[in-house]
Amino acid sequence: TWTPDAFVDTTVAQLKKQLGDDRVILGLSGGVDSTVAATLLHKAIGDNLYCIFVNNGLLRKNEFSEVLLQYEGMGLNVKGVDASARFLEALEGESDPETKRKAIGRVFIEVFDDESKEVENAKWLGQGTIYPDVIESVSATGGPSATIKSHHNVGGLPDFMKLKVVEPLKMLFKDEVRRVGKSMGLSPSLLGRHPFPGPGLAIRILGDITPEKVRILQEVDHIFISGLREWGLYDKVWQAGAMLLPVNSVGVMGDERTYEKCVALRAVESTDGMTADWVNLPYEFLQKVSNDIINKVKGVNRVVYDISSKPPATIEWE
Ligand code: XMP
Repeated sequence: TWTPDAFVDTTVAQLKKQLGDDRVILGLSGGVDSTVAATLLHKAIGDNLYCIFVNNGLLRKNEFSEVLLQYEGMGLNVKGVDASARFLEALEGESDPETKRKAIGRVFIEVFDDESKEVENAKWLGQGTIYPDVIESVSATGGPSATIKSHHNVGGLPDFMKLKVVEPLKMLFKDEVRRVGKSMGLSPSLLGRHPFPGPGLAIRILGDITPEKVRILQEVDHIFISGLREWGLYDKVWQAGAMLLPVNSVGVMGDERTYEKCVALRAVESTDGMTADWVNLPYEFLQKVSNDIINKVKGVNRVVYDISSKPPATIEWE
Protein backbone atom coordinates (compact mmCIF):
# COMPACT_ATOMS: atom_id res chain seq x y z
CA THR A 1 0.00 0.00 0.00
CA TRP A 2 0.99 3.62 -0.70
CA THR A 3 2.32 5.57 2.26
CA PRO A 4 3.63 9.15 2.24
CA ASP A 5 6.82 8.16 4.11
CA ALA A 6 7.68 5.48 1.57
CA PHE A 7 6.87 7.88 -1.27
CA VAL A 8 9.28 10.46 0.16
CA ASP A 9 12.07 7.88 0.57
CA THR A 10 11.80 6.39 -2.90
CA THR A 11 11.25 9.73 -4.63
CA VAL A 12 14.21 11.41 -2.93
CA ALA A 13 16.42 8.43 -3.86
CA GLN A 14 15.20 8.55 -7.46
CA LEU A 15 15.71 12.30 -7.71
CA LYS A 16 19.26 11.99 -6.35
CA LYS A 17 20.08 9.41 -8.99
CA GLN A 18 18.34 11.28 -11.80
CA LEU A 19 19.73 14.74 -11.01
CA GLY A 20 23.20 14.01 -9.61
CA ASP A 21 25.01 17.34 -9.31
CA ASP A 22 22.74 19.14 -11.80
CA ARG A 23 21.08 22.45 -10.98
CA VAL A 24 17.28 22.77 -10.96
CA ILE A 25 15.18 25.94 -11.19
CA LEU A 26 11.67 26.00 -9.72
CA GLY A 27 9.00 28.68 -9.51
CA LEU A 28 7.32 28.82 -6.11
CA SER A 29 3.79 30.19 -5.89
CA GLY A 30 3.11 29.96 -2.17
CA GLY A 31 0.67 27.15 -2.90
CA VAL A 32 0.76 23.57 -1.69
CA ASP A 33 1.93 21.84 -4.88
CA SER A 34 4.98 23.95 -5.71
CA THR A 35 6.00 24.02 -2.03
CA VAL A 36 5.83 20.24 -1.61
CA ALA A 37 7.68 19.72 -4.92
CA ALA A 38 10.39 22.13 -3.79
CA THR A 39 10.74 20.43 -0.41
CA LEU A 40 11.21 17.01 -2.04
CA LEU A 41 13.78 18.38 -4.48
CA HIS A 42 15.58 20.21 -1.70
CA LYS A 43 15.83 16.98 0.28
CA ALA A 44 17.39 15.32 -2.75
CA ILE A 45 19.79 17.97 -4.06
CA GLY A 46 19.98 20.70 -1.39
CA ASP A 47 21.11 24.09 -2.64
CA ASN A 48 21.37 22.90 -6.21
CA LEU A 49 17.66 23.68 -6.18
CA TYR A 50 17.16 27.36 -7.05
CA CYS A 51 13.67 28.58 -6.20
CA ILE A 52 12.18 31.76 -7.60
CA PHE A 53 9.16 33.40 -5.97
CA VAL A 54 7.68 36.23 -8.04
CA ASN A 55 5.58 39.04 -6.63
CA ASN A 56 3.21 39.99 -9.46
CA GLY A 57 1.69 42.78 -7.36
CA LEU A 58 -1.60 40.87 -7.33
CA LEU A 59 -1.03 38.74 -4.25
CA ARG A 60 -2.93 39.05 -0.99
CA LYS A 61 -2.02 41.66 1.58
CA ASN A 62 1.49 40.99 3.01
CA GLU A 63 1.60 37.63 1.23
CA PHE A 64 4.88 38.16 -0.60
CA SER A 65 6.94 39.01 2.47
CA GLU A 66 5.22 36.47 4.75
CA VAL A 67 5.51 33.55 2.37
CA LEU A 68 9.10 34.44 1.46
CA LEU A 69 10.01 34.44 5.14
CA GLN A 70 8.31 31.09 5.59
CA TYR A 71 10.28 29.62 2.67
CA GLU A 72 13.55 30.94 4.06
CA GLY A 73 12.66 29.43 7.42
CA MET A 74 12.25 26.07 5.71
CA GLY A 75 15.85 26.28 4.49
CA LEU A 76 14.93 26.61 0.82
CA ASN A 77 17.36 28.37 -1.50
CA VAL A 78 14.83 30.96 -2.64
CA LYS A 79 15.01 34.30 -4.38
CA GLY A 80 12.07 36.68 -4.04
CA VAL A 81 11.60 38.88 -7.09
CA ASP A 82 9.34 41.90 -6.78
CA ALA A 83 8.06 42.46 -10.32
CA SER A 84 4.85 44.26 -9.28
CA ALA A 85 5.56 47.34 -11.36
CA ARG A 86 6.20 45.30 -14.48
CA PHE A 87 2.91 43.43 -14.16
CA LEU A 88 0.84 46.50 -13.33
CA GLU A 89 2.34 48.36 -16.25
CA ALA A 90 1.45 45.51 -18.64
CA LEU A 91 -2.11 45.53 -17.29
CA GLU A 92 -2.65 49.26 -17.50
CA GLY A 93 -5.89 50.12 -19.27
CA GLU A 94 -6.74 46.46 -19.99
CA SER A 95 -10.22 45.39 -18.94
CA ASP A 96 -10.90 42.27 -20.99
CA PRO A 97 -10.51 39.14 -18.80
CA GLU A 98 -8.65 37.07 -21.38
CA THR A 99 -6.35 39.94 -22.33
CA LYS A 100 -5.53 40.43 -18.64
CA ARG A 101 -4.76 36.73 -18.15
CA LYS A 102 -2.57 36.66 -21.24
CA ALA A 103 -0.66 39.76 -20.18
CA ILE A 104 0.04 38.24 -16.78
CA GLY A 105 1.14 34.95 -18.32
CA ARG A 106 3.45 36.73 -20.73
CA VAL A 107 5.09 38.92 -18.08
CA PHE A 108 5.49 35.94 -15.76
CA ILE A 109 7.40 34.07 -18.46
CA GLU A 110 9.59 37.13 -19.15
CA VAL A 111 10.40 37.62 -15.47
CA PHE A 112 11.03 33.93 -14.88
CA ASP A 113 13.24 33.76 -17.97
CA ASP A 114 15.31 36.75 -16.83
CA GLU A 115 15.74 35.24 -13.38
CA SER A 116 16.57 31.77 -14.61
CA LYS A 117 19.44 33.21 -16.67
CA GLU A 118 21.05 34.19 -13.37
CA VAL A 119 21.38 30.53 -12.49
CA GLU A 120 24.36 29.32 -14.48
CA ASN A 121 24.38 25.82 -15.89
CA ALA A 122 20.85 25.01 -14.87
CA LYS A 123 19.76 21.77 -16.52
CA TRP A 124 16.26 21.20 -15.16
CA LEU A 125 12.99 22.96 -14.57
CA GLY A 126 11.20 21.66 -11.47
CA GLN A 127 7.40 21.80 -11.46
CA GLY A 128 4.67 21.04 -8.96
CA THR A 129 2.42 19.41 -11.56
CA ILE A 130 0.02 16.91 -9.99
CA TYR A 131 -1.97 14.10 -11.61
CA PRO A 132 -5.21 16.05 -12.22
CA ASP A 133 -3.16 18.73 -14.05
CA VAL A 134 -1.79 16.04 -16.31
CA ILE A 135 -5.14 14.49 -17.17
CA GLU A 136 -7.28 17.61 -17.28
CA SER A 137 -4.79 20.28 -18.23
CA VAL A 138 -6.89 22.75 -16.25
CA SER A 139 -6.97 26.38 -17.28
CA ALA A 140 -3.81 27.55 -15.69
CA THR A 141 -1.96 30.55 -16.93
CA GLY A 142 0.19 33.06 -15.25
CA GLY A 143 1.53 31.06 -12.38
CA PRO A 144 4.31 28.68 -11.59
CA SER A 145 1.70 25.98 -11.00
CA ALA A 146 0.80 26.27 -14.65
CA THR A 147 1.84 23.22 -16.60
CA ILE A 148 4.05 24.40 -19.38
CA LYS A 149 2.95 22.59 -22.49
CA SER A 150 5.51 20.90 -24.67
CA HIS A 151 6.13 22.85 -27.83
CA HIS A 152 7.29 21.72 -31.22
CA ASN A 153 9.03 24.91 -32.18
CA VAL A 154 11.75 24.86 -29.52
CA GLY A 155 13.70 27.67 -31.22
CA GLY A 156 11.27 30.42 -30.21
CA LEU A 157 10.96 29.42 -26.57
CA PRO A 158 12.31 31.29 -23.58
CA ASP A 159 15.55 29.72 -22.36
CA PHE A 160 14.10 28.11 -19.26
CA MET A 161 11.56 26.20 -21.32
CA LYS A 162 14.38 24.42 -23.10
CA LEU A 163 15.33 22.79 -19.81
CA LYS A 164 14.42 19.20 -19.05
CA VAL A 165 11.39 18.98 -16.80
CA VAL A 166 11.30 17.22 -13.43
CA GLU A 167 7.86 16.77 -11.84
CA PRO A 168 8.05 14.68 -8.65
CA LEU A 169 4.29 14.96 -7.88
CA LYS A 170 3.07 13.99 -11.31
CA MET A 171 1.42 10.77 -10.13
CA LEU A 172 -0.26 12.18 -7.01
CA PHE A 173 -3.70 13.51 -6.20
CA LYS A 174 -4.10 16.63 -4.09
CA ASP A 175 -4.82 14.80 -0.83
CA GLU A 176 -1.72 12.65 -1.36
CA VAL A 177 0.35 15.79 -1.96
CA ARG A 178 -0.90 17.15 1.38
CA ARG A 179 0.00 13.88 3.12
CA VAL A 180 3.48 13.91 1.59
CA GLY A 181 3.90 17.52 2.74
CA LYS A 182 2.78 16.56 6.23
CA SER A 183 5.18 13.63 6.41
CA MET A 184 8.04 16.03 5.53
CA GLY A 185 6.98 18.32 8.38
CA LEU A 186 5.38 21.18 6.42
CA SER A 187 3.14 23.33 8.60
CA PRO A 188 -0.60 22.58 8.67
CA SER A 189 -1.31 26.24 7.92
CA LEU A 190 0.67 25.97 4.71
CA LEU A 191 -0.86 22.63 3.71
CA GLY A 192 -4.39 23.82 4.47
CA ARG A 193 -4.20 27.03 2.44
CA HIS A 194 -7.10 27.73 0.14
CA PRO A 195 -6.31 27.56 -3.58
CA PHE A 196 -5.38 30.93 -5.06
CA PRO A 197 -5.26 31.57 -8.80
CA GLY A 198 -1.99 32.37 -10.59
CA PRO A 199 -3.32 35.69 -11.98
CA GLY A 200 -4.25 36.56 -8.40
CA LEU A 201 -6.41 39.57 -7.63
CA ALA A 202 -6.36 40.60 -11.31
CA ILE A 203 -9.24 38.23 -12.04
CA ARG A 204 -11.14 39.46 -8.97
CA ILE A 205 -10.95 43.13 -9.98
CA LEU A 206 -13.54 43.36 -12.72
CA GLY A 207 -12.46 45.68 -15.46
CA ASP A 208 -9.18 47.56 -15.53
CA ILE A 209 -6.62 47.38 -12.76
CA THR A 210 -5.05 50.25 -10.87
CA PRO A 211 -2.76 50.18 -7.82
CA GLU A 212 -5.58 51.81 -5.82
CA LYS A 213 -8.05 49.05 -6.72
CA VAL A 214 -5.47 46.41 -5.78
CA ARG A 215 -4.98 48.09 -2.42
CA ILE A 216 -8.72 48.26 -1.75
CA LEU A 217 -9.23 44.61 -2.64
CA GLN A 218 -6.25 43.51 -0.54
CA GLU A 219 -7.77 45.23 2.48
CA VAL A 220 -11.22 43.73 1.87
CA ASP A 221 -9.81 40.25 1.28
CA HIS A 222 -7.70 40.52 4.42
CA ILE A 223 -10.71 41.37 6.59
CA PHE A 224 -12.75 38.53 5.05
CA ILE A 225 -10.06 35.84 5.27
CA SER A 226 -8.84 36.73 8.75
CA GLY A 227 -12.49 36.82 9.83
CA LEU A 228 -12.97 33.29 8.54
CA ARG A 229 -9.94 32.21 10.57
CA GLU A 230 -11.09 33.96 13.75
CA TRP A 231 -14.54 32.40 13.51
CA GLY A 232 -13.12 28.91 12.90
CA LEU A 233 -14.65 28.83 9.43
CA TYR A 234 -11.51 28.87 7.29
CA ASP A 235 -11.03 25.08 7.23
CA LYS A 236 -14.71 24.48 6.54
CA VAL A 237 -14.51 26.42 3.30
CA TRP A 238 -12.74 25.14 0.19
CA GLN A 239 -11.97 28.57 -1.19
CA ALA A 240 -12.93 32.14 -0.37
CA GLY A 241 -12.21 35.57 -1.71
CA ALA A 242 -13.58 38.98 -2.56
CA MET A 243 -14.36 40.59 -5.91
CA LEU A 244 -14.15 44.31 -6.61
CA LEU A 245 -17.03 45.25 -8.89
CA PRO A 246 -16.93 47.97 -11.55
CA VAL A 247 -20.01 49.48 -9.97
CA ASN A 248 -20.47 52.55 -7.80
CA SER A 249 -23.57 52.99 -5.72
CA VAL A 250 -25.01 55.68 -3.53
CA GLY A 251 -24.55 55.71 0.21
CA VAL A 252 -24.90 58.13 3.08
CA MET A 253 -22.30 58.94 5.70
CA GLY A 254 -23.43 61.51 8.29
CA ASP A 255 -24.83 64.33 6.19
CA GLU A 256 -22.78 63.34 3.19
CA ARG A 257 -23.87 61.47 0.11
CA THR A 258 -21.25 58.96 -1.05
CA TYR A 259 -20.85 57.27 -4.41
CA GLU A 260 -18.43 54.41 -3.88
CA LYS A 261 -17.40 50.88 -4.78
CA CYS A 262 -19.22 47.62 -4.18
CA VAL A 263 -17.49 44.33 -3.27
CA ALA A 264 -18.83 40.79 -3.53
CA LEU A 265 -17.71 38.10 -1.09
CA ARG A 266 -17.55 34.51 -2.31
CA ALA A 267 -17.00 31.32 -0.31
CA VAL A 268 -17.46 27.87 -1.83
CA GLU A 269 -17.43 24.19 -1.00
CA SER A 270 -15.86 21.94 -3.60
CA THR A 271 -13.65 18.91 -4.02
CA ASP A 272 -11.75 19.82 -7.16
CA GLY A 273 -12.95 23.28 -8.23
CA MET A 274 -14.77 21.81 -11.24
CA THR A 275 -18.12 22.20 -9.50
CA ALA A 276 -18.80 24.30 -6.42
CA ASP A 277 -21.59 25.28 -4.06
CA TRP A 278 -21.77 28.55 -2.19
CA VAL A 279 -21.32 28.17 1.56
CA ASN A 280 -24.07 29.01 4.00
CA LEU A 281 -21.94 31.27 6.23
CA PRO A 282 -23.56 32.38 9.50
CA TYR A 283 -25.48 35.66 9.24
CA GLU A 284 -23.68 37.02 12.32
CA PHE A 285 -20.36 36.43 10.60
CA LEU A 286 -21.48 38.13 7.37
CA GLN A 287 -22.85 41.04 9.38
CA LYS A 288 -19.57 41.53 11.25
CA VAL A 289 -17.40 41.25 8.16
CA SER A 290 -19.61 43.58 6.15
CA ASN A 291 -19.51 46.22 8.91
CA ASP A 292 -15.74 45.91 9.25
CA ILE A 293 -15.21 46.27 5.52
CA ILE A 294 -17.44 49.32 5.16
CA ASN A 295 -16.03 50.99 8.28
CA LYS A 296 -12.37 50.27 7.61
CA VAL A 297 -11.90 50.26 3.86
CA LYS A 298 -12.06 53.71 2.35
CA GLY A 299 -13.81 53.70 -1.02
CA VAL A 300 -16.22 50.83 -0.33
CA ASN A 301 -19.79 51.50 0.78
CA ARG A 302 -21.59 48.27 -0.12
CA VAL A 303 -20.95 44.54 0.40
CA VAL A 304 -22.89 41.69 -1.21
CA TYR A 305 -22.59 37.91 -0.85
CA ASP A 306 -22.44 35.69 -3.92
CA ILE A 307 -25.08 32.93 -3.72
CA SER A 308 -24.38 31.31 -7.08
CA SER A 309 -23.19 27.77 -7.64
CA LYS A 310 -20.83 26.46 -10.30
CA PRO A 311 -22.02 25.62 -12.89
CA PRO A 312 -22.75 28.04 -14.25
CA ALA A 313 -21.07 30.67 -12.06
CA THR A 314 -17.31 30.08 -11.98
CA ILE A 315 -15.53 30.58 -8.66
CA GLU A 316 -13.55 33.53 -9.96
CA TRP A 317 -15.62 36.29 -11.54
CA GLU A 318 -13.25 36.62 -14.49
P1 XMP B 1 -13.09 28.88 -11.82
O1 XMP B 1 -13.08 30.37 -11.67
O2 XMP B 1 -12.80 28.44 -13.24
O3 XMP B 1 -11.86 28.36 -10.95
O4 XMP B 1 -14.32 28.24 -11.28
C1 XMP B 1 -11.66 27.02 -10.57
C2 XMP B 1 -10.40 26.99 -9.71
O5 XMP B 1 -9.25 27.31 -10.49
C3 XMP B 1 -8.64 28.48 -10.00
N1 XMP B 1 -8.22 29.27 -11.16
C4 XMP B 1 -6.95 29.40 -11.57
N2 XMP B 1 -5.79 28.94 -11.04
N3 XMP B 1 -4.60 30.00 -12.77
C5 XMP B 1 -4.62 29.26 -11.65
O6 XMP B 1 -3.55 28.88 -11.17
C6 XMP B 1 -5.72 30.49 -13.35
O7 XMP B 1 -5.66 31.17 -14.38
C7 XMP B 1 -6.95 30.18 -12.71
N4 XMP B 1 -8.24 30.49 -13.00
C8 XMP B 1 -9.00 29.93 -12.02
C9 XMP B 1 -9.69 29.18 -9.16
O8 XMP B 1 -9.10 30.01 -8.15
C10 XMP B 1 -10.43 27.99 -8.58
O9 XMP B 1 -9.73 27.43 -7.48
